[in-house]
Amino acid sequence: MKILITGGAGFIGSNLSEYFLNKGYQVVCLDNFATGHRYNLAACFDNPNFTLIEGDIRNLSDCQKAVEGVDYVLHQAALGSVPRSINDPITTNDVNVSGFLNMLTASRDAKVKRFVYAASSSTYGDSVGLPKVEEVIGKPLSPYAITKYVNELYAEIFSKTYGLETIGLRYFNVFGRKQDPNGAYAAVIPKFVMQFMNYESPIINGDGNYSRDFTYIDNVIQMNELAMTTQNPEAINTVYNTAFGDRTTLTQLVGLLKENLSAFDSKIGDVEVIHGSNRAGDIPHSLASIKKAKKLLGYEPQFSIQDGLKEAVSWYYNNLKR
Ligand SMILES: NC(=O)c1ccc[n+]([C@@H]2O[C@H](COP(=O)([O-])OP(=O)(O)OC[C@H]3O[C@@H](n4cnc5c(N)ncnc54)[C@H](O)[C@@H]3O)[C@@H](O)[C@H]2O)c1
Repeated sequence: MKILITGGAGFIGSNLSEYFLNKGYQVVCLDNFATGHRYNLAACFDNPNFTLIEGDIRNLSDCQKAVEGVDYVLHQAALGSVPRSINDPITTNDVNVSGFLNMLTASRDAKVKRFVYAASSSTYGDSVGLPKVEEVIGKPLSPYAITKYVNELYAEIFSKTYGLETIGLRYFNVFGRKQDPNGAYAAVIPKFVMQFMNYESPIINGDGNYSRDFTYIDNVIQMNELAMTTQNPEAINTVYNTAFGDRTTLTQLVGLLKENLSAFDSKIGDVEVIHGSNRAGDIPHSLASIKKAKKLLGYEPQFSIQDGLKEAVSWYYNNLKR
């Protein structure tokens, strides 16, 4: 079986690539290294079942080349980050919408068995109810959120119109090994970990009471595998929350990070945090219902935020501590 992983040099894509290679699949990775890194694929290059295609999902011909002879697509390539999309909505739209449509079209034409794609919890937008259930969404709060919602609309139309099997995974704040701590658009966990390791004070946007359903990478890998392999006809052509199903405030997160990092370096316990203003486009609270994934896919997340942070912090300390 051959899997195409777009965005395979990124955080989630490289973890998926490594996992499926270890399970004996052939893996093709399509990436233009916009935000991904060659070093994320260091463990893959020596594997004869691995192929890297350096290309851009905005080019239909790159997508067509990448899907040749492929059974399944795990589409991860996109420009993430709400602030990035606010600063540059045009590029975000080109990659996340036009690139997505190219990948869908190429996958349809190559008759791939299934197209599993990275959707996003940002699709819940301004809906206030908690926990978030798949059927109830609000209005998008950022250009990024619009692009991720449009992905779902296109996937549904491709299922209905062309019979392409699709499954969307609405990821909720994923974290873990290989997530990039650097750059203006870094995610909160790797960014804070690096700052703490350098004894710098992280800045919390707002009073620290905003909460998120932080989801460890191995739970996300499990969801991708289930979505790719499910034989349940009711489970396809739909979307799933991909989360642990618990929420943690930013203040609690900082406490957990300090606790875990102090085991490596007790001085980190003394680093204070700073509070800044809330960020545009941020939703106050996010918590997933994972009932649908449990029922239709048999999803059983193995890592709570505590379990995941233990692994992630240890990985950052052992790999990136200067
Ligand atoms: N990390 C999260 O918490 C989270 C949450 C919700 C959704 N997602 C989605 O999951 C997917 C993966 O996110 P990630 O956190 O691994 O991000 P990432 O930035 O680490 O990975 C994205 C990868 O896509 C590649 N890419 C970007 N533009 C491309 C293009 N035009 N052509 C080919 N490749 C391109 C990048 O180089 C990178 O390797 C994205 O679709 C993202 O929107 C992530």
